[in-house]
Amino acid sequence: MCHYCGCRQIPLIKEFIAEHETVTNAAGDALRALDAGDLPGAAALVATMEAVLLAHWKGEEDGLFAVMAPDPEYAQYIGALVAEHHELAAFLASADLASPQDAQTFRAAVAELHHHIAKEEDGLFPASLTALTGEDWDRSIAAWREAHPGRSLRPAG
Ligand SMILES: [Fe+2]
Ligand SMILES: [Fe+2]
Repeated sequence: MCHYCGCRQIPLIKEFIAEHETVTNAAGDALRALDAGDLPGAAALVATMEAVLLAHWKGEEDGLFAVMAPDPEYAQYIGALVAEHHELAAFLASADLASPQDAQTFRAAVAELHHHIAKEEDGLFPASLTALTGEDWDRSIAAWREAHPGRSLRPAG
């Protein structure tokens, strides 16, 4: 039977995972551009990453994270994820890939981002499937919509 959550929760999680893929693809391309000495190309890809991540983080933090954070079981875990968002946001906003030090930091940041994504996809997202009420999903989906004006979730399936 198609339960309330069965129809609605999965498209949001699928969307978050698709956003992760978009960002990791752009990050991989940016690293390859850096390796090839293509600084403008790398900078453009980092700008893409930043744009996708800012909307992605808003969607996560204002929705799924906000409804799960009051639960003591998840509060600390979510606090750490949000701190990682802030750290990467601050770095991306000021990074100058022409600086060898920033380029090095960017490489480390991409590795950390992979780890961050794994924590969400292997930890928080599966937990959300049992933790959220229907109302929580509604709030999470509303937050995603607000973070992505003019877009809609891909249909389930
Ligand atoms: Fe995140
Ligand atoms: Fe995420």
